[in-house]
Amino acid sequence: MKRLAVMKRKVNRQKLILIWKRKIVVVIILGFCFVSLVMMQQQQQSPFARILSLRPRFAPLPKLAFLFIARNRLPLDILWDSFFKGEENRFSVFVHSRPGFLFNKATTRSVHFLNRQLNNSIQVDWGQASMIEAERILLRHALMDPFNKRFVFLSDSCIPLYNFSYTYDYIMSTPTSFVDSFADTKEGRYNPRMNPVIPVYNWRKGSQWAVLTRGHAGVVVNDTTVFPMFKRHCKRRSLPEFWRDRPLPADASKEHNCIPDEHYVQTLLAQEGLEGEITRRSLTHSSWDLSSSKDRERRGWHPVTYKFSDATPMLIQKIKDIDNIYYETEYRREWCSSKGKPAACFLFARKFTRPAAVRLLNMSVLGA
Ligand SMILES: *[C@@H]1O[C@H](CO)[C@@H](O)[C@H](O)[C@H]1NC(C)=O
Ligand SMILES: *[C@@H]1O[C@H](CO)[C@@H](O)[C@H](O)[C@H]1NC(C)=O
Ligand SMILES: *[C@@H]1O[C@H](CO)[C@@H](O)[C@H](O)[C@H]1NC(C)=O
Ligand SMILES: *[C@@H]1O[C@H](CO)[C@@H](O)[C@H](O)[C@H]1NC(C)=O
Repeated sequence: MKRLAVMKRKVNRQKLILIWKRKIVVVIILGFCFVSLVMMQQQQQSPFARILSLRPRFAPLPKLAFLFIARNRLPLDILWDSFFKGEENRFSVFVHSRPGFLFNKATTRSVHFLNRQLNNSIQVDWGQASMIEAERILLRHALMDPFNKRFVFLSDSCIPLYNFSYTYDYIMSTPTSFVDSFADTKEGRYNPRMNPVIPVYNWRKGSQWAVLTRGHAGVVVNDTTVFPMFKRHCKRRSLPEFWRDRPLPADASKEHNCIPDEHYVQTLLAQEGLEGEITRRSLTHSSWDLSSSKDRERRGWHPVTYKFSDATPMLIQKIKDIDNIYYETEYRREWCSSKGKPAACFLFARKFTRPAAVRLLNMSVLGA
């Protein structure tokens, strides 16, 4: 009886020891699991961190948006095709052409202009606010892509003077817009009916071929005060040569020769107090033909068109060598710079015919 009791106790002790042993094993296994989990996590963290640090390389690059205002096709498309080649992730293209015109394989030889035409383009009429409306439509489309950081307005006769990389760095490294803008003192262009919405001290003139920052592009598409004023009170006066096509104005001297596209963006930015955020010059060179016109009123109205015989390396070099611009009305000389160093003033030039552009392309004058 006593022996049995002793044996029972012994078995109980052994059972207890076994239970403890199991508990210890479980604790050890759990501990091991915990440690290895932590280690695994740490090991996983380092590749994860590496992926994070690599992300900017895979993220889309900031883009230059090229906004073309064309009548129909883009005659210089092959030149732009060579300019864009290989840079597909650093630019986007938008084309405003007349409604009904279609960019397809028959009308453009560059893939960069296929499917890039706006679906809500408007008829742009000479001297009317429709030109600035076309600019606003282009900006509205281009702003939908958040990676578009600068917006370059170009005509169908513009050529690039440099290669893509130089153009991209020049524009992207400048935090401002490039807008040719000066106080317009010429009598008759400011219509006093715009007062007081647009006071005369905010009245500016300049080139339509501007480069805008994203912020300023937003200001233009959001504008609900200056644009309606321009629509009503700013029109280009018809010149005698166009009177054949248009009704004769009752009294031509009383009409304001306003030229909407050469006043709108600059006047709007002055109105909004944003002139501190612009570099006051255009990046697009135009040569104004002053000599061939005897009529004073017509002076400066027609930019020179360069034809095949004009398109020489010397012409391009002459334009590239310009490093300052003089603004007569303000006695202001603008010295051009990029990244804090003296630089060429112009990245683009107009107006070039297709044969002229083909010649330049063939001579490899551009892009180097
Ligand atoms: C026109 O284009 C815009 C932007 O690309 C798009 O959102 C819209 O759906 C298009 N409209 C039509 C009628 O195709
Ligand atoms: C236009 O203005 C609205 C309201 O002020 C603002 O939310 C929007 O971001 C602006 N759009 C752009 C493109 O700047
Ligand atoms: C292009 O250049 C080549 C010689 O380099 C010449 O033979 C050809 O006629 C040129 N074509 C045009 C369109 O100028
Ligand atoms: C691009 O143009 C710049 C300026 O003319 C030149 O310094 C650079 O070497 C050119 N880059 C290429 C890839 O041709």
